Amino acid sequence: MKTVKDYIRTIPDFPHEGIMFRDVTTLFSDPRGFRMAIDQLLHPYAGERIDRVVGLEARGFILGGAIAHQLSVGFVPVRKKGKLPGKTIAQSYTLEYGEATVEIHDDALQPGEKVLIVDDLLATGGTCEAGIKLVEKLGAEVVGCAFIVDLPELGGRKLLESLGMKVHMLCEFEGA
Ligand code: PRP
Ligand code: MG
Repeated sequence: MKTVKDYIRTIPDFPHEGIMFRDVTTLFSDPRGFRMAIDQLLHPYAGERIDRVVGLEARGFILGGAIAHQLSVGFVPVRKKGKLPGKTIAQSYTLEYGEATVEIHDDALQPGEKVLIVDDLLATGGTCEAGIKLVEKLGAEVVGCAFIVDLPELGGRKLLESLGMKVHMLCEFEGA
């Protein structure tokens, strides 16, 4: 039987020479693969209280929407700077290719809410760390961070675990 990893396509030299891009669109476009990924992402949280799902731009929106629907809870986007229309709070972070800033609506979460953060891929962990800071600035609590792909050589998991996070991922790829 195919695993989640089997549905992920690798594109060499994107967006730069030497980068092996792990493309989850081939997982998302397959009905079995997509359902398997959503079910497996949720598996560790069965019976746990989750009030809100936060998705990290951009592929975390696709996963987060499906997961929030499955849990019958609301979905909240963390977006790249300048995209959200309401009043926001911002967090900058260092990317593999430069610096970036992400934002969340300042009324999107209530203090004390339990939040699951989701994204397609964990590399250095910078994006997710920024998402965690935004959630915590609003007084909510991150109960877990879930990803389809981990790139262990880039150290994201260690970073997030050093922040006390429970991290869940479905597969790993070697190399950056
Ligand atoms: C990719 C990926 C994660 C992030 C992981 O997104 O989808 O969100 O990088 O990297 P990190 O762990 O080193 O922070 P990207 O920033 O390329 O933008 P996109 O999802 O909007 O395409
Ligand atoms: Mg992303």
